[in-house]
Amino acid sequence: LQTILPDIQLNLRRGIAELGWGHPDPALLPAADLARAAELAIRRDGWRALAYGAEQGPGPLIELLRVWLGQREGALPAAEQILVTGGVSQALDLLCTLLARPGDVVLVESPVYHLALRIFGDHGLELVPTPADAEGLRMDALADILPRLRAAGRQVCFLYTVPTFCNPTGASLASGRRSELARFALEHDLVVVEDDVYRDLWYDAPALPPLQSLAPAAVIRLGSFSKILAPGLRLGWLVAKPEIVQRCIGCGMLDSGGGVNHFTAHVVAAYLEMGLLAGHIDRLRASYRGRRDALLAGLAQYLPGDCRWQRPAGGFFAWIELPEGHDSARLLPAAEAAGVSYVPGTRFCARYGGERHLRLAFSLLSEGELATGAKRLGAVLAYSRLQKTEG
Ligand SMILES: Cc1ncc(COP(=O)(O)O)c(C=O)c1O
Repeated sequence: LQTILPDIQLNLRRGIAELGWGHPDPALLPAADLARAAELAIRRDGWRALAYGAEQGPGPLIELLRVWLGQREGALPAAEQILVTGGVSQALDLLCTLLARPGDVVLVESPVYHLALRIFGDHGLELVPTPADAEGLRMDALADILPRLRAAGRQVCFLYTVPTFCNPTGASLASGRRSELARFALEHDLVVVEDDVYRDLWYDAPALPPLQSLAPAAVIRLGSFSKILAPGLRLGWLVAKPEIVQRCIGCGMLDSGGGVNHFTAHVVAAYLEMGLLAGHIDRLRASYRGRRDALLAGLAQYLPGDCRWQRPAGGFFAWIELPEGHDSARLLPAAEAAGVSYVPGTRFCARYGGERHLRLAFSLLSEGELATGAKRLGAVLAYSRLQKTEG
């Protein structure tokens, strides 16, 4: 059907190396296998796949998820600890609806996944940044900020953090800090929302155990099939203590509509039953590892010597620090004119910071395109430096 209306969010512009999109390469989306899974789901499950679903998510998917999480992480969550969600975005929206009131404070790691900040904003929450460094969230900052907010009478609904292969930095919360944060959350009765979407996409060594494993009573952990299968499925899961899961199951939205994305949940259950996920993730890892290495090689070759970045050990992103005097948002039009795009750092920071940073995604483009993107970025930075010294 011909229409000018968009079908998808991804908008690729001709002639631009799009390093802004944290999207999987379309070639890595397993369309044929999902077609087989969809056929199996509808043929075998029939009308049950098309009915209003159980609020918690379909039982078979919950059982399969338990086994999957147990195999990967060594601890089998109880069925009462799992809720099937419409992905992390929907889970965050639901948690804001149920656990927060407009005017509450949400503590957010900074920098962090920028679109989560938008969801918190939709709920009228006040964002208070908690700075992170190369080893993740800074515990000294959290230990300073939380008591001050509470002493001022503020209600803090939760802390939002991406402790494993963070978007945008690629950094992970160091082991010592994981224990410290777990202890702190329990001692201070702080709910922590652990966004864990990149856990399986490690390229050097498997990720550290989830924060949740250290403080199950304090942490709500969110997983998603978006990065390991396909974002258009809109399917994920939440692991939390049974009271939280019950609170979610009892909400009006699920009562009215049944479990979210019930048909998709049947399709993904069939896919898991077919035993395809582990092999698919292995292929993703190999492919993204190659892309990460190609981008890093391009950055080392083409970026001016005073730019800084860390080697991302997992996830989709590299986080670049530009030298003093640069502003990544102001530089973006020139970069796009030169054929490369990125997301400016300020987008990932609540309230302040990020002006000299930018985020590059290595998930979407081929190794060759990533090298081209790095070369163009290097040329733009060199030119901007020249203008500064001449000006
Ligand atoms: C840290 C993080 N959380 C959540 C999401 C979105 O997750 P979902 O597609 O499951 O809503 C993204 C996508 O970029 C992300 O980077």
